[in-house]
Amino acid sequence: MEKFIINSALDMHLHLRDDDMLKLVGPLTSKSFAGALVMPNLLPPITTKEALLSYKQRIKEACKQDEDFTPYVTIFFQVDYSYSFLEDIKDEIIAVKLYPFGVTTNSETGVSSMDVEILRPTLESMSKLGIPLCVHGETKGFVMDREKEFLPIYESLAINFPNLKIIMEHISTKEAINLLDKYDNLYATVTVHHLLLTLDDVAGGMLNPHNFCKPIVKRYEDRAALQEIVLQAHPKIMFGSDSAPHQKNNKECHHGAAGVFNSPIALQLLAELFEKNGKLDNLNTFVSLNAQRIYNLKPISKPITLIKKDFIVPDVYSYKNEQVVPMFADKTLAWSIK
Ligand code: NCD
Ligand code: ZN
Repeated sequence: MEKFIINSALDMHLHLRDDDMLKLVGPLTSKSFAGALVMPNLLPPITTKEALLSYKQRIKEACKQDEDFTPYVTIFFQVDYSYSFLEDIKDEIIAVKLYPFGVTTNSETGVSSMDVEILRPTLESMSKLGIPLCVHGETKGFVMDREKEFLPIYESLAINFPNLKIIMEHISTKEAINLLDKYDNLYATVTVHHLLLTLDDVAGGMLNPHNFCKPIVKRYEDRAALQEIVLQAHPKIMFGSDSAPHQKNNKECHHGAAGVFNSPIALQLLAELFEKNGKLDNLNTFVSLNAQRIYNLKPISKPITLIKKDFIVPDVYSYKNEQVVPMFADKTLAWSIK
């Protein structure tokens, strides 16, 4: 049977939530990943050292059967973070995550202006301290154009803060890809759903709320461009699942929440995509080596064996009152984790 070993898989954009949801989804990542960059958009968001350290502790507790899992935690960007606060917290965080106000789940305390002069004091401190900036790059424009409209802001950040590492999170368009090589300090994460889905998978037939996320999945040509650049393991692109679980009844309802839950199937889907295209040799670079180099990480060695054997995706994952429907629920995947 065909098999493939991924060593020290890293998920560089993950939502682990808290409480029972954390207890449900934490182990579904720590089982197969050596580490993950954990997003700070809890309610309230993580903005203090105390909240950060206790959240890190709760994550470790939830994932304790996998002691070889490292949560790389982040704080939620605020314009009033002082240099001394950032200096104090620097060794505890991997990055600061910036959300523009109201663009996605739990971003109501995000920045109300992306004006470089307003952001300058914080970004200069981060730049001096070598703290990377992760950005949710969307405007409030037409849903399909939000990322494209945000690209000039990425450019102005890249130009104004040349020593700041800027990660364009979950890029979803060919235009964002084109920006990557223009500035040395721009990097990106790509999700598995933006690699495999288009808007047709959300709204082309019957409505599928479980494929609904921010940024929305796009056009066929965007998906093709993302696949092309990821399959060649472009050195500035890392895997970030953006796995974002929501309660089943908060997805299957009026006002359904944005976020695709893919943690338990991400590696299997990536193996299938890379194998189909004859690029399995590049998979470790995409899911581990690029992140190690870009973020300067030394994850523990954690080999995961993928085998070419059918895996039926469960229709729901549950723990106590939490129920989450995964991407591709009930579908059969070509690869499984041994
Ligand atoms: C994420 C969430 O639910 O926290 N949702 C999403 O659609 N991706 C937030 C985010 O990363 O935008
Ligand atoms: Zn996210």
